[in-house]
Amino acid sequence: MNDAIDFHTSSRLSDCRIITLEKHHHENGNLSVVESGNELPFSINRVYYLYDVPGGVERGGHSHRQCYEFIMAVSGSFSIEIFDGAERRTVNLNRSNCGLLIVPGIWRVLDNFSSGSVCLVVASETYNEADYVRSLDEFMSLTASKRK
Ligand code: TYD
Repeated sequence: MNDAIDFHTSSRLSDCRIITLEKHHHENGNLSVVESGNELPFSINRVYYLYDVPGGVERGGHSHRQCYEFIMAVSGSFSIEIFDGAERRTVNLNRSNCGLLIVPGIWRVLDNFSSGSVCLVVASETYNEADYVRSLDEFMSLTASKRK
């Protein structure tokens, strides 16, 4: 990890973007594809999903040191607030073929989950608790150079 990029000092909100997936429309239903190298600028190592999220709760509340994530509202809707240590932006996801690419070093909070919504996350790394920054104080300290 010694030569790992310090994303907390380099990542900006502008590095995060909404990606719209092609919709293969069919009268019997639609199909969209997420594929490494094509839609996503990383190789997929993990997929997880949030479901049965009670109304009014927040998820996330962390940043990652090296992990890229692509977050989709495959069903229903929710909001994601992203924060790079200097700027904040809120993105509302409510279409099954759109997602938000979040680069490492960005704080994110997910909320406003609609009833029955499903949040699908495609990640560049397998699960590693050491990759998480879960303390906002630590995040603020890691991103202090952006506020000078
Ligand atoms: P957490 O990352 O805290 O969820 P969120 O940020 O969405 O609120 O994860 C919740 C629990 O699930 C925590 O105990 C860690 C575990 N977990 C895994 O075991 N593997 C995973 O890939 C993820 C994302 C979480």
